[in-house]
Amino acid sequence: MNVAILISGSGSNMLSLIDDMTGSHPGRVMLVLSNTPKAAGISKAIARGITAKVVDYQTYKPNISAFESELQNQLEAHKIDLICLAGFLHILGSNFIAAWEGRILNIHPSLLPKYKGLDTHQRAIDAKDDKAGCTVHEVVNELDSGPILAQGYVNILRNDDALSLASRVLVQEHLLYPKVVRDFIHNISTKNSQ
Ligand code: GRF
Repeated sequence: MNVAILISGSGSNMLSLIDDMTGSHPGRVMLVLSNTPKAAGISKAIARGITAKVVDYQTYKPNISAFESELQNQLEAHKIDLICLAGFLHILGSNFIAAWEGRILNIHPSLLPKYKGLDTHQRAIDAKDDKAGCTVHEVVNELDSGPILAQGYVNILRNDDALSLASRVLVQEHLLYPKVVRDFIHNISTKNSQ
């Protein structure tokens, strides 16, 4: 199964997915797409021999549909079957999501449905939660609201700030996302072979 990973930043989740999809794994990362040339993950993908393309939002805005059409062109050109969002900061439009629903996943750094959107760790600390974590979910039109596939948990420590909590949650993300994607692809492959 051909997988594309969409990024906007460091690509640490992208790397854990790339490094897991080897050997007997039924998926392979065939493309990394970034919405900005500034994403540090681009060079990391290229260093691993993965095709990486920039579809620079700044050169398309305010024409969001043209931007998302170019994303679609790249995905079709590389015969992509599954999209994994990994730190991708553009909120995809309803037409794009409708075309991919059921074949597009995301990892979000909170225990959804709590703390959709940004600044998740600070919000958990401010709310005096005792736990934080990450969620892998299917992407639907409503932000961070699709079917939850799995979650990873960390305890919030008394002396935590957003940075220290984020770094512990990120460790869980790197474990969770590859496992969920492997199971997700395996389930699709099993269904397709029946
Ligand atoms: C991570 O916290 C992830 O949950 C969120 O973006 C952050 C950076 O991810 N979606 P990465 O290091 O770019 O993979």
